[in-house]
Amino acid sequence: MATPTPAPASTSAPSSEFRPGLEGVVAAETKLSHVDGQKGELIIAGYDVEEIAPNATFEEATYLLWHGERATVQQLAAFSKELAGLRALPDATVELLKAVAKEKKPVMDALRIAAGTLDLNVDAADQELVSKSLLARLPTVVAAYWRLRNGESPVAPRADLSHSANYLYMLTGHEADAAAVRGMETYLNTIIDHGLNASTFAARVIIATESDMTSAVVGAIGALKGPLHGGAPGPALEMVFEIGTAEAAEPYLRAKLERGERLMGFGHRVYKVRDPRAEVLGQAADAMFVEGERRKLYELAKFVEQKALALLKEYKPGRNLQTNVEFYTALLLHGLGLETELFTPTFACGRAAGWIAHCREQLATGRLIRPQSRYVGPHHGRWEQAA
Ligand code: ACO
Repeated sequence: MATPTPAPASTSAPSSEFRPGLEGVVAAETKLSHVDGQKGELIIAGYDVEEIAPNATFEEATYLLWHGERATVQQLAAFSKELAGLRALPDATVELLKAVAKEKKPVMDALRIAAGTLDLNVDAADQELVSKSLLARLPTVVAAYWRLRNGESPVAPRADLSHSANYLYMLTGHEADAAAVRGMETYLNTIIDHGLNASTFAARVIIATESDMTSAVVGAIGALKGPLHGGAPGPALEMVFEIGTAEAAEPYLRAKLERGERLMGFGHRVYKVRDPRAEVLGQAADAMFVEGERRKLYELAKFVEQKALALLKEYKPGRNLQTNVEFYTALLLHGLGLETELFTPTFACGRAAGWIAHCREQLATGRLIRPQSRYVGPHHGRWEQAA
């Protein structure tokens, strides 16, 4: 066999620095959100997350992201009404979800499978309508699948409720109170957009080929599913439950770090100070966990957070590992009555507004996304027939 020779140098472009994970690489200009990881600042379409998340409705925040300006009262009413009218699923999607439920697949898998069917009874040439249908229907998929897998019938969406209120209603069959609806609005707004995170980047890469909105959202759902992105809040809450008491926190966390495991809900590629979304969601959780066992759980979570931060400093000095959005997501969504497996799918329902906004922006201003790789394999020369 011919002796391998080193790979030839790339001839197509001036050699560029290899950045594993594209860390620090600016791959898009955006008006949608700004993440300052050093200052702990998140701006969403011109507003600090602390301002927009607890005060806007999800429909208002979405309209702002998609149009670049706030809706008038009339525009908001028309937008909300249109979304509400698109919530029902195509019959084929419901049949598919029934088949998936028989296999007891995880909710994120069901969401990924069903999301590709959400433009079935929509004119595919009308990508504006496809976008609205995707946003309106993702919560219907999650709620319907959740109930089907639990042996219950799906609850039909109600057009007279807001996006957040209707989601909670479809999950339980009961109308949620105003505090719970506000909690869900705040959550969805907090995670609606966050710069060029992995799932948003995936969506932009797909739409940049002039593919379609449904494909971009399906790809983004796949990217969000992983535990290093949107899959962390379930494990973060399970950790608090497993710890159980304040006395158990330190030995439990120390043992995890000694084994080289990661503490879910801590650390971030961009934030080197506390994630501002953790602050917003922590405050929302504080307002929801007011008494009894719920309050005790909130206080335990705060205690676990403080211990975890101290131990991360001890075990990972200089890495600036801080609380990320997932830690308080877990607490807030648990307070809203959602089981842990619903956390990431609910994240997807909110982030879908950001994915679609980025796709719109990419189509308007972007270019085919096509980075390069550096070949580090051998170069064998001639192909010898196997002896
Ligand atoms: N617990 C313990 N150690 C950690 C943690 C953690 N949560 N996060 C990072 N570290 C350590 C790593 O082991 C590494 O240590 P080393 O230098 O001794 O090898 C160092 O900190 C740097 O870690 P990287 O993986 O290089 O940092 P990166 O920027 O790639 O990771 C990430 C960011 C993936 C979020 C990481 O912090 C992590 O795994 N956190 C836990 C999972 C989590 O909470 N994910 C949700 C993120 S928020 C979101 O996506 C919506």
